[in-house]
Amino acid sequence: MTVANVIQQQLERSSWIRKMFEEGIRLKAERGAENVFDFSLGNPAEDPPTGVIATFRRLAEKNAPGSHGYMPNSGYPVTRRTVAQRLKRDTGLEYTENHVMMTVGCAGAMNAALKAILDPGDEVIVLMPFFPDYQFYITNHGGRMIPVETDENFSIDVAALEAKITPKTKAILLNSPNNPSGVIYSAAVLQKLESLLQRADHSIVVISDEPYKSIVYDGAKCPEIASIISNCIITTSWSKTWAVPGERIGYLAISPRISSADALANACNFTNRILGYINAPAIWQLVVAEAPEEITDLAAYQEKRDLMCDGLASLGYEVQKPQGAFYVFLRTPIKDDLAFSRVLQEEGVLAVPGTGFGRGGYIRLSLTVPRDTIVRSLPAFGRAIEKLPALSAK
Ligand SMILES: Cc1ncc(COP(=O)(O)O)c(C=O)c1O
Repeated sequence: MTVANVIQQQLERSSWIRKMFEEGIRLKAERGAENVFDFSLGNPAEDPPTGVIATFRRLAEKNAPGSHGYMPNSGYPVTRRTVAQRLKRDTGLEYTENHVMMTVGCAGAMNAALKAILDPGDEVIVLMPFFPDYQFYITNHGGRMIPVETDENFSIDVAALEAKITPKTKAILLNSPNNPSGVIYSAAVLQKLESLLQRADHSIVVISDEPYKSIVYDGAKCPEIASIISNCIITTSWSKTWAVPGERIGYLAISPRISSADALANACNFTNRILGYINAPAIWQLVVAEAPEEITDLAAYQEKRDLMCDGLASLGYEVQKPQGAFYVFLRTPIKDDLAFSRVLQEEGVLAVPGTGFGRGGYIRLSLTVPRDTIVRSLPAFGRAIEKLPALSAK
């Protein structure tokens, strides 16, 4: 067969979200789209902020000379300066444009960073539950993913993490606010992690994956991880905060506190090129330079979060409201999340089993659906929970 064995195996492991997507198409054809409630994808239903679209239109209309050409692989200096100034303002660290590289979304940033730092067999610690594609990003570059359990609140269990550190540990991947758990790591736990890294026998870099950083609820603020962790590379994008995941615009930022920051920036510039990204989309870099403070409608997300969580709690589900990001990670009323996902499917509800994120006993529900989908889906969640006694009697 032409497809590599390793890719064939990865395809089989990667398919939870995809499976749900395909199941959705089948169910919609069978029952009509209005009777299927698809909570499986993190694809924002909202329009991007009007300021973002107005800037994009103006720049496209302007069609400035040279605006479609190659540029430095790290991106336009003006955009990188804008990003560096914001980082300096938010973290108090001396970021300059030389620490910032514009990337093809957050996934592009993570792959460029991992390729720049990993030698074959190097280990990368990830915290469970985790964004499923991390495992493939790590193996893309010869690394080994080392999953570590989090504590009962899905926060960092520093002792458990310490127990997994070996001479081969090269990096730790953090994602706060977290997909899927919605947890924001506190400054206190990040300080503990920093102390651990300071004590370690060798240098370990934290890749702070931050695409949901500004999507927070109840006035919460996500601690600046780069202010606390010295050895930090931020990877992020505007995919979620501007509702533009298809436009593939993000960046990576190397902390000025990393002693070899210049060499690392140089390496990332090179890996961005040889991975075939070359540079981030040109016009979206210009939008970033002109409209960096725009943000999606957080009030709409908060309303949907409350509607979903309060609705599920009133039906008897055990619900923990997310502090940030736009997913509800719901404990399933039976241990077997795959079985419960099937019960929900029979009722027309599509959710991703927690098993796909390395944490069974939960399902992930995405709040990127229209409000009305949540309202109309609640009776289906009610019917699913009522079916359980019959299920356990079987
Ligand atoms: C935790 C996390 N990291 C990275 C990404 C990739 O983001 P992007 O689409 O900007 O590449 C996602 C996308 O869902 C995500 O949830």
